[in-house]
Amino acid sequence: MSGGTEIPVRVTKVTPVAERIKRFRFERLDGRPMPYFSGGAHVVVSMNDEGHMRRNAYSLMSPPQDCSAYEISVLHVENSRGGSTFMHEKVREGDEMKVSYPVNLFQPDWRARKHLMIAGGIGITPFIAMMEQFSREGANFELHYAVRSHDRGAYCRELVDRYSSHRVKIYCDAESDFIPVARLLDSQPLGTHLYVCGPSGMIDGVLRAGLEAGWPEQNLHSERFLSSQPGKPFNVELLRSEKTVHVGHHESMLEAIEAAGVDAPFLCRGGACGQCETAVAACEGRLLHHDVYLSDEEKASGRKVMICVSRFEGNRLSLDL
Ligand SMILES: Cc1cc2nc3c(=O)[nH]c(=O)nc-3n(C[C@H](O)[C@H](O)[C@H](O)COP(=O)(O)OP(=O)(O)OC[C@H]3O[C@@H](n4cnc5c(N)ncnc54)[C@H](O)[C@@H]3O)c2cc1C
Ligand code: FES
Repeated sequence: MSGGTEIPVRVTKVTPVAERIKRFRFERLDGRPMPYFSGGAHVVVSMNDEGHMRRNAYSLMSPPQDCSAYEISVLHVENSRGGSTFMHEKVREGDEMKVSYPVNLFQPDWRARKHLMIAGGIGITPFIAMMEQFSREGANFELHYAVRSHDRGAYCRELVDRYSSHRVKIYCDAESDFIPVARLLDSQPLGTHLYVCGPSGMIDGVLRAGLEAGWPEQNLHSERFLSSQPGKPFNVELLRSEKTVHVGHHESMLEAIEAAGVDAPFLCRGGACGQCETAVAACEGRLLHHDVYLSDEEKASGRKVMICVSRFEGNRLSLDL
């Protein structure tokens, strides 16, 4: 597989954290320390579901300086294609699994005078490791964290206890208590960087508000927990491998290509990193670009496609793979 070398690990702890959220602790099978990572990094967890390989990205939330283990928290999504259901229903303490080396697509900018974090729901995970690092480095930071209800909010009490209500503010949708985004953006010192992770609508709204309030684009950072969307089945020809692969309703192109025994590169499997960019050799139909990596012009050109999340509708798609 082309997400880089994988690390064989044992699941040493599974902890229910909140409604539909569990935390998993992974330790290396060979007893060596885990590779160092920085706040905001994720790993791709490989799940062997009775011979069917599932691979999902999960943000690392354990303290970055603690190399004894990695910890992730997984939300069991309601319309899961299988990955989060597998983690919740099949993974037990003692199981052996594999995780990729960490990759960080959501790095804090250490030049910032202040780090302002906005999280929604499970989008809290990358910030837990980031805050640990900010706190150790003596950086100025503040977290605004929106949860749907107190039962569904993970780590609210722990974060307030650890960093105080001065740095961590919790907002609960069920109590009509919402993050005052515009007011927050207007009251930050010059040189503040903003980081947002949560549902797509929230990310779009916060980034738009930032630009409207005159924030420089390079001070606005976001991470989307995107994944492949289901869609109409289609065939894709792989020019160099000389294969035609069928992509099913619930499958991504990348998953179908891997299942056909063809290696394709990836890092995030969520349309964000650019690693799986593939040249289109022929396209008689419409590419459905679901990534946030290619520019609008690149998408319109029809010459490239991110095979981890994008789909195709039409007569013929041929890729240089
Ligand atoms: C860089 C990165 C980091 C991630 N970190 C985390 C993490 O720390 N914890 C975590 O639980 N997930 C995280 N995800 C999402 C995760 O990789 C999976 O997409 C998620 O677990 C759902 O997988 P699935 O196989 O069950 O269903 P999928 O088929 O992948 O998703 C099914 C449907 O649910 C939607 N969906 C996916 N994720 C969510 C979500 N978080 N909330 C609401 N709807 C969703 C998808 O858009 C899709 O329509 C991350 C994704 C990326 C790209
Ligand atoms: S693997 Fe990251 S964009 Fe496809």
